[in-house]
Amino acid sequence: MVTEARIEGETSLVPRHVAIIMDGNGRWAQKRHLPRLAGHRAGVRNIHRIVRACVDAGIFMLTVYAFSTENWGRPESEVNGLMAIFADASERETRQLHANGVRIRHVGRMDRVPRHLQQAIQTAVELTRNNSGLTLNFAFNYGGRAEIVDAMKRIMVDGIAPDLIDEDMVSRYLYTADLPDPDLVIRTAGEMRLSNFLIWQAAYSEYYSTPKPWPDFDEEDLHAAVESYASRHRKFGKL
Ligand code: IPE
Ligand code: IPE
Ligand code: MG
Repeated sequence: MVTEARIEGETSLVPRHVAIIMDGNGRWAQKRHLPRLAGHRAGVRNIHRIVRACVDAGIFMLTVYAFSTENWGRPESEVNGLMAIFADASERETRQLHANGVRIRHVGRMDRVPRHLQQAIQTAVELTRNNSGLTLNFAFNYGGRAEIVDAMKRIMVDGIAPDLIDEDMVSRYLYTADLPDPDLVIRTAGEMRLSNFLIWQAAYSEYYSTPKPWPDFDEEDLHAAVESYASRHRKFGKL
């Protein structure tokens, strides 16, 4: 799968792998005079809607950026609230996603994650391991730089000779070792930055930014992003 996805110049009108930076929960809440955590609750609820829309659009892999390694730097009350919301959602939503044939994967570190949430994530991954529908990669406690540091450490531990290290090998040491690179990276809430998301894997991805905050991002917005992707000319450095 990995090699196939990296064939240069390969184009398809429908992106096979879409990655979303789910941003703007806080602003969504603020606009409604609600606490930020209400925005995070609405954001987590929206994942289900977009999973269904991806399946309908023929997308076979979706990666969602849910919590970055830098998000630990937010106030403790917000971090704790987010952990509780994710734990609650993973217990509530996993069954439904499993019934729909979705395969759930975790991309990121497990350190610092509360034990009950670690267990909930592991249970979701185990339960859905053999599903053949959409693959949903949950980028949680994820940071692109941390991922590269972790890969370098493991390469050293495995005693790989410098001459043997090439791009394919580095890719195989990332959390996303067996996943195709994202074709399309969508960011909601109007920012135009990666914020440490898939910095290696998205080297040749197409980018799409929408002003809509994540909780409001719906099926039509996904279609607009996919349509924009279909009009792009991917060149991979060639003519
Ligand atoms: C994205 O929404 C969710 C996380 C980063 C956990 P934000 O919380 O960043 O929302 P804004 O950017 O403050 O509006
Ligand atoms: C990126 O959003 C992380 C997630 C969506 C999980 P942030 O809100 O943390 O990014 P910055 O701080 O605006 O760059
Ligand atoms: Mg933000």
